[in-house]
Amino acid sequence: MILVTGATGKIGAEAVRLLARQGLPTKALVRDASRAPQDGSWRGVEIAVGDFDRPGTLDAALAGVDTLLLISPSVPAQEIAVIDSAVGQGVQHIVKITNHKATEDSPVDRRRGHARIEAHLKASGLAYTLLAPNVLLQNLFRVAPMIKQTHGFVMSAGDGQFGAIDSRDVSAAAAAVAADPNGHEAHTYLLTGPELVTYADVAAELTRALGQEIAYHRVTPHQHREAMIQAGLPEPVATSNAQAFGLIAEGDAAWLSDDIATLTGRSPRTLRTFVTDHVSAFA
Ligand SMILES: NC(=O)c1ccc[n+]([C@@H]2O[C@H](COP(=O)([O-])OP(=O)(O)OC[C@H]3O[C@@H](n4cnc5c(N)ncnc54)[C@H](OP(=O)(O)O)[C@@H]3O)[C@@H](O)[C@H]2O)c1
Repeated sequence: MILVTGATGKIGAEAVRLLARQGLPTKALVRDASRAPQDGSWRGVEIAVGDFDRPGTLDAALAGVDTLLLISPSVPAQEIAVIDSAVGQGVQHIVKITNHKATEDSPVDRRRGHARIEAHLKASGLAYTLLAPNVLLQNLFRVAPMIKQTHGFVMSAGDGQFGAIDSRDVSAAAAAVAADPNGHEAHTYLLTGPELVTYADVAAELTRALGQEIAYHRVTPHQHREAMIQAGLPEPVATSNAQAFGLIAEGDAAWLSDDIATLTGRSPRTLRTFVTDHVSAFA
């Protein structure tokens, strides 16, 4: 049995769908059962209602689980509670979504959090695999309302390149490892798209797909943080995001890897494919 947490999120929902499609025994941890897809894509999936902040619900969800696909908003106390529950319930292997630049002394709070969680996971004695995606293209949905209203978007990543990855490819890699974790123990895989891109490239692809000029407005990380807070993001998330975008401007995300093809047998999707598939979200 495989349990996927963060199952209603960008990576988790598609990973559950892919596991269900293979007919593998799969449970999805959700806070609210009504948020599970109603389109049949999770057919055969067991829904476990639970909350990272309520340990009793985690024990119930992890009972009988062999492999855990651990996805969360990366709050250390929450993921550590899931790992402790997994140890107690006899889980054998944890596949964790993490960050490639997760270090104890990272300037980005979220990355320090991932480093703490990774240390706890490694000390737990369970078999584990780490999957570290580069910047998700699906993050662009956050600026979709701004693009619709203003035909432009703000970003504080300057002209920094990043190995933009479609979260559907992260889901495919995660599902592949969770389906058969043998041989992936103690491995870290770096998940990227096939090309380095900038937000100017993103604006150009949106312009091409929409047939209308989409502007990329370069702002400072401080201005970006304020804009994200105004758009409703919680302050700590906006702070970490702005720090991460500032680092992209400095070249921090300019890395590529072949690990998607290694894990899934398929080339990762391009920026153009993402934009083409989702053009209606920006129109
Ligand atoms: N975005 C990027 O570019 C990027 C790059 C590298 C790594 N990552 C890592 O990817 C991970 C996030 O994955 P994602 O983008 O797929 O997540 P996401 O779309 O932000 O979704 C978060 C998921 O966590 C669930 N959740 C939140 N609080 C919960 C709680 N208290 N109890 C149970 N479930 C809870 C949410 O459920 P609800 O639907 O109920 O809210 C949702 O399913 C993070 O670890 C992040 O650091 C992201």
